[in-house]
Amino acid sequence: MLSQIQTETPPEDLAALAETHYFAANPPPKDLEKHVALARDFINFHSAAKRRLVLVTSGGTTVPLEKQTVRFIDNFSAGTRGATSAEYFLEAGYAVIFLHRQFSLLPFSRHYSHATDCFLDFLREGPDGSVVARDEDAARMLHVLRKYRNARDRNTLLVLPFVSISDYLHELRSVAQLMQPLGPSGLLYLAAAVSDFFVPPERMSEHKIQSTDVAEAFKKSKNARAQKTTEDEETFDNFDSSPAVPRSKSLVIDLDPVPKFLKNLVEGWSPQGMIVSFKLETDPEILVHKAKYSLDRYQHHLVIGNLLATRKWEVVFVSPLSPDRWIRIPNPAESHASTAAVEKDEPVDPKSLPDGEPDTEIESLIIPAVQELHTKYIQTVEAKNKA
Ligand code: PMT
Repeated sequence: MLSQIQTETPPEDLAALAETHYFAANPPPKDLEKHVALARDFINFHSAAKRRLVLVTSGGTTVPLEKQTVRFIDNFSAGTRGATSAEYFLEAGYAVIFLHRQFSLLPFSRHYSHATDCFLDFLREGPDGSVVARDEDAARMLHVLRKYRNARDRNTLLVLPFVSISDYLHELRSVAQLMQPLGPSGLLYLAAAVSDFFVPPERMSEHKIQSTDVAEAFKKSKNARAQKTTEDEETFDNFDSSPAVPRSKSLVIDLDPVPKFLKNLVEGWSPQGMIVSFKLETDPEILVHKAKYSLDRYQHHLVIGNLLATRKWEVVFVSPLSPDRWIRIPNPAESHASTAAVEKDEPVDPKSLPDGEPDTEIESLIIPAVQELHTKYIQTVEAKNKA
């Protein structure tokens, strides 16, 4: 039936059909209504102040294997790109809705995450039993604290969490639709690592998937006992005397593709907002090609390409608003040839980069470049709307 619909329906209707089907079959997160109310107030507040507003998505989406979820498949992302970008957007004067994977990095607190810099390491006991920042860390902490307080006092940061791929898609659709009245001054910056495959609800186990046949045998014998026939009692006896070592089961997971909703986002959920997507690859040879393919397919406004191994050192901008452009942190090992090295229009060899992270955060260069394109985009849309 579905294949018949697919062959007879024009592509734009298929996208609408996929949307209707997906959102009806996959229930919304329980806090969606609460998040929508918070986002609506936030957007109205900043729209009245004529402030630019960006939705930053960040972190990886999960794919639950069970309805009462114990096991899930995860996507790679600590949320560094999203959390760092959000800080630079705030610095650039944007109001930020930060839609992030629960417990991934957050703007500001990311500087003191438990994985790298535990905040307790920055504190010491002061006089009279008080707690104060260590002298050597105080200036840096104060700098972050001021920016954090500024965002709180001016209500410029709204933080909303998601966990699974379906939570993410419900939240993304709702917030994008709420942003429609902002027109071109709304920006969507999709840095989250979004799952490409999922288990549809009709094939999802209700309970924890079992790794042995113990529970199955127990259930069988329990049902048999309930019937209370002589033969059944024998079945139960058989279970009791069954081998003591349970048999382990292998797990075969059959995943469906997650519908690509970028087209729906561009054409339906946010027809005037500027949409920036990320393209993550591991093979340098295909990065630019895949970024261009994505732009061509979805007709949005900017794809930022990055490679897993070098994503903190360089990214490439592919956009109809400007020529392709690499943005990179100069490699300290090549500082004598700095201009040529920085302007090279192909990926760097990861082996040529020093170990560890660059001194400068690449988002400090990415966000001003996005802002510049956003300004250009607003001017283009406004000119078109006037004509
Ligand atoms: O958080 P970090 O550790 O710093 O890592 C940052 C990052 C590498 C995760 C980030 O910079 C990045 O590249 N994010 C995008 C990763 C990703 O999902 O790429 P993709 O090629 O699978 O998807 C491309 C775009 O299509 C995404 O912007 C996504 O919004 C969209 N998409 C993806 C899958 C899907 N089913 N539907 C979609 O709409």
